[in-house]
Amino acid sequence: MTLHYKPFAPLVARIREDGKCLEGGILKVDSFINHQIDPTLLQSMSIEFVRRFANKEINKILTIEASGIAPAIMVGFLLNVPVVFAKKKKPSTMDNMLVTEVFSFTKNKSYTVCCSKDFLGAGDKVLFIDDFLANGNAAKGIIDLVNQAGATLAGMGFIVEKSFQHGGDYLRDQGYQVESLAIIDSLDNCTITLRSNQR
Ligand code: G4P
Repeated sequence: MTLHYKPFAPLVARIREDGKCLEGGILKVDSFINHQIDPTLLQSMSIEFVRRFANKEINKILTIEASGIAPAIMVGFLLNVPVVFAKKKKPSTMDNMLVTEVFSFTKNKSYTVCCSKDFLGAGDKVLFIDDFLANGNAAKGIIDLVNQAGATLAGMGFIVEKSFQHGGDYLRDQGYQVESLAIIDSLDNCTITLRSNQR
């Protein structure tokens, strides 16, 4: 399958400058994406997501806590639609829940992800936004929640996709519109290899 990929230049430049590679194929971007956040970069990335999904009808943004929340809010703000984050712990005060299991490859354990039926239901046209796409397990959990709700998944937007973990291949093969602002083809030998263009 041809992947029409266009790197988002300001993000690529920032990864080159401030991204760090950790053992085990982990890209550390906590100085600008998922611990300290650069709001100007976040704004420009969110505008890019809106541009890439302009062909889709979207009435809700969905993400998973925690790191997805910041980009999701910015996209929701730009589209003027509500933002829902799936929770990793079932709140004791909440019933009427949609629940699924997600296996975390990085943490080597499964966790429960849930969302109230009050905020995700039939007729919703959902855009899923998250910081990383690796194996795609979080995205699979989201697909399950959306299906349980009878909602429609309009697309999935990720700040960074790690192609060597193949979540993106799986999701695109399922027919979803997946947009990644930067694709990392390898972190071998602690060298960040960014994909430069369509291939
Ligand atoms: P998957 O959902 O695509 O299958 O990913 P995986 O299980 O491998 O990843 C689990 C967690 O690790 C996710 O965050 C994901 O965003 C994050 N992650 C995966 N690869 C990288 C990486 O190279 N760098 C960084 N910084 N994070 C990575 P999470 O556990 O849900 O944490 P959070 O959203 O609460 O921060």
